[in-house]
Amino acid sequence: MQTFLVTGGVGFIGSNFILKARKEQWANIINLDKLTYACNPQTLAELQNDPGYYFVRGDISDTEMLGYLLERYQPDAILNFAAESHVDRSILSPLDFIQTNVLGTFQLLEASKAYWEKLSPEKREKFRFLHVSTDEVYGSLSPTDPAFREDTPYAPNSPYAASKAGSDHLVRAYYHTYGLPTLTTNCSNNYGPRQFPEKLIPLITLNALNAKPLPIYGDGQNVRDWLYVDDHCDAIQLVLQQSRLGETYNVGGNNEQNNLTVVEEICEVLDKLAPKPGLRRSDLITFVKDRPGHDRRYAIDCSKIKRDLGWEPKENFDSGLLKTIQWYLNNPNWVEEVQSGAYQTWIEQNYSDRQVASSPI
Ligand code: NAD
Ligand code: TYD
Repeated sequence: MQTFLVTGGVGFIGSNFILKARKEQWANIINLDKLTYACNPQTLAELQNDPGYYFVRGDISDTEMLGYLLERYQPDAILNFAAESHVDRSILSPLDFIQTNVLGTFQLLEASKAYWEKLSPEKREKFRFLHVSTDEVYGSLSPTDPAFREDTPYAPNSPYAASKAGSDHLVRAYYHTYGLPTLTTNCSNNYGPRQFPEKLIPLITLNALNAKPLPIYGDGQNVRDWLYVDDHCDAIQLVLQQSRLGETYNVGGNNEQNNLTVVEEICEVLDKLAPKPGLRRSDLITFVKDRPGHDRRYAIDCSKIKRDLGWEPKENFDSGLLKTIQWYLNNPNWVEEVQSGAYQTWIEQNYSDRQVASSPI
């Protein structure tokens, strides 16, 4: 069986990927994660007795640690999920994003190159470096613009998007300059189990469950293309195993929704699954001051990955959302652990000075 070094594997997408990789026997996994605020160390507790899984706490910027891990475990592939990933935090603390997303990715590329250059010809030929990126690097679309393609020019608007764009460019350069066998995926918004409740879907789910206000930025008409996380994991594994070297692939859900519609659907599901007498959860919707530089619309044209590799999303939004909400209802301990003191500080910081209204501001 192959061995993958996964970075950031305690986070939302990485943890779902690792669980799937172990369940479907894709590979043995070495998981290198810094354990930032954005993850619950208990997320992968079910793998603690799995001999094919090994966790290391560490930073992708730590070259000594990377050198040791690569030498010791001789991975067949490195999958880089590690990142600072929340746009609102990137507006308040951009340096963390440059540090991990740009400089960290650079250090990881350097260590990967040094390792790859020393491999036997056979292992060298098969080695891959897969970088997990986002559609946000392409900027914002108007309602009538065509969806992002792989050749859409980069136009990042937030510090998060700019830092991911920087990392994508470094990955590209290491392929073109040094021949490092890289792959990049640019995916739309994911949703599913184990997402930290600073992002829209889990934040609204947990606030609605507890009858708290449901903050919607601006007029609620910003559009995102939502993809269920397992579909993203399948796309990553397929690209890793079958893509030609140096390729980039857009991955999306063919599922554009505006934020207000998403929030209303969450309210409807919760009113059915966890009714509270006298409460209609959509009455909790609160329009708040917009995010600065808020991208209006993202949409992904994923015809390339369909044509080349036969991938398309399997989950539809209604069933995916139901599974997601059910997961949060079934895992109150996980929720309690992540909603600790630091989480409360963030909620205070991000929402306390936003002006509040019951109709769009
Ligand atoms: P996340 O914030 O849930 O998880 C990120 C993980 O990386 C955390 O476990 C964190 O501890 C770890 N990490 C952060 N800095 C690190 C460092 N310096 N060294 C080692 N580990 C570090 O993020 P996510 O939503 O799972 O996103 C994973 C990747 O997918 C990111 O690169 C993100 O840009 C990309 N992406 C996310 C989405 C989405 O909708 N969530 C969509 C497209 C692409
Ligand atoms: P988010 O989950 O932060 O993902 P991204 O900004 O990377 O797309 O936000 C998704 C959308 O939801 C985005 O348009 C911002 C909006 N949003 C709100 O309206 N209220 C909130 O409290 C949050 C966190 C996001």
